[in-house]
Amino acid sequence: MRISINDIRQKKNKAEKIAAVTAYDYSTAKICDVSGIDVILVGDSAGMVMLGYNSTIPVTVDEMMVFCKGVINGSKNALIVADMPFGSYQSGLPLAFLNAIKFVKLGCNAIKIEGGAEVAPLVQSLAKKGIPVMGHIGLKPQTSPLWEGYKVQGKTCETAIGLFNDALELEKAGAFSIVLEMVTDETAEKISQGVSIPTIGIGSGNKCDGQVLVLHDLLGLYDDIRPKFVKRYAESHSLFSTALKNYVNDVRSGDFPNTGHTSYMARDELQKFEDYICALNNKRKENT
Ligand code: KIV
Repeated sequence: MRISINDIRQKKNKAEKIAAVTAYDYSTAKICDVSGIDVILVGDSAGMVMLGYNSTIPVTVDEMMVFCKGVINGSKNALIVADMPFGSYQSGLPLAFLNAIKFVKLGCNAIKIEGGAEVAPLVQSLAKKGIPVMGHIGLKPQTSPLWEGYKVQGKTCETAIGLFNDALELEKAGAFSIVLEMVTDETAEKISQGVSIPTIGIGSGNKCDGQVLVLHDLLGLYDDIRPKFVKRYAESHSLFSTALKNYVNDVRSGDFPNTGHTSYMARDELQKFEDYICALNNKRKENT
């Protein structure tokens, strides 16, 4: 049975934390699901890891819908959260509602919106219309590159207070959980203690109620990108590239495919086929 919003809410302040991860397609969603992942976030990081954009800014709703469709088809158990891409909610409720509804109708269980107090009225309107909203504060990848770049947030008392108040506003607005991205450990801890909804950290220490990582980071699919806060649970880049090099060598040398990978005709069918070709060749000879 699929994990519900209430299940996630009930994981607040529990010894067992929420395990969340991003996924963007059918095959990886299937693996996430059988691995016991609580929340699959179809993050707009898809734009970077699946489409090769250099930020999440260009990602569109249509692109996100395709990623979400794959994840919905691949998972039966995890709560699926769709990330609302940049430009899909900033202009106000009518467009935000329209776009959020697209994800919900597709089969997503909730949506995520970046921003603190400034998006709280929108979060409240969406939540009142029955759409579960996950907040996202700290580093905001949709707008941070336009201002200061990717920097740790909440290093000073002033910025920590700002984040703390953002979290309170999101809670008041009805968000069911909040992602804290690249927030100092102390700030993340105070926020987690200060709100009654689960916090899910990424690069924000271990005091949150859960953790989320980008799937490609934790699986080590890139050899050149190694964020400090990521623990690599596999070295998939070298695993995959070794496998592919072996494939290239086998194909070039003729070692693949071998008899075990090949299908054969029954003897009598083969005989009839060869007779047919023989007759055809004889006819061709007669005509030349
Ligand atoms: O898009 C994403 O992957 C995210 C996570 C980093 C939280 O928003």
